[in-house]
Amino acid sequence: MNIHTLDKYAKSLIKEAANNIKSSFSSTLIIESKSEANDLVTNIDKETEQYFINHIKRDLPDHRIFGEEGFGDEIHDLNGYVWMLDPIDGTMNFIHQKKNFAISLGIYKDGVGILGYIYNVMEDDLLSATIGEGAFSNDIRIPTVEIASVEQSIVGVNASWVIPNKHIQHEGMIKLLQTVRGSRSYGSAAIEISYVVTGRLDAYMSMRLSPWDIAGGMVIAKEVGAVVTTLTNEPINLLQQNTFIISKPGLHEQLLSNYIQLK
Ligand code: IPD
Ligand code: CA
Ligand code: CA
Repeated sequence: MNIHTLDKYAKSLIKEAANNIKSSFSSTLIIESKSEANDLVTNIDKETEQYFINHIKRDLPDHRIFGEEGFGDEIHDLNGYVWMLDPIDGTMNFIHQKKNFAISLGIYKDGVGILGYIYNVMEDDLLSATIGEGAFSNDIRIPTVEIASVEQSIVGVNASWVIPNKHIQHEGMIKLLQTVRGSRSYGSAAIEISYVVTGRLDAYMSMRLSPWDIAGGMVIAKEVGAVVTTLTNEPINLLQQNTFIISKPGLHEQLLSNYIQLK
């Protein structure tokens, strides 16, 4: 399958999976906790991941799948084709709000992101990117992101950044929030990344994200010139959890050197 056929195939799976998710609103959800009480998963997260895996294994048997709910392959390297899938990013929103959740998917070939998708299911907004060919919101090309100053920025952070915590110096974050134009928190890393690449947010950061939260967004980010690193300005390792920042260029350096300090 060439990259354009693969792109069409991935999009058809995403759209069909989203229809199944929306149909589930009329049935009762089975909700469980994972690593802790507020780390939630539902039968629909699991069924959506299984939907992708069943199709990919049937149609592309040499492709491997790195999925959040663990129905895919055990991934210890990025050789060949690897699909990194979060079937529902923003499960808490899915359960409580029935909006602001996304299907997040990145397709990597020998460690290089070749196709990326973030589908905001309830807004019917499919962000997609093909390596070297730019990024799109549905059929509309997304322009390259512009340079932003700290003072004119809206940053995506949640409240845990400004209370004492074990990861970062919260005083620097208070200083940041006193300087920027505004802050927002949407409860889905994929949606927050989608807002940076489309210019609705100027930066988004997290203390810990998994490969499936960010793999699709990273392909899109590259196509529009948004900068992605860890909070210590290292490249992201997609075989493990990472700290994470995506930002407009210029702002990225300023945030890391003047405001964000890890403990
Ligand atoms: C979570 C969301 C959330 C982020 C968490 C993720 P999930 O993903 O993206 O915004 O803060 O770190 O784990 O569990 O809803 O797929
Ligand atoms: Ca997630
Ligand atoms: Ca998820």
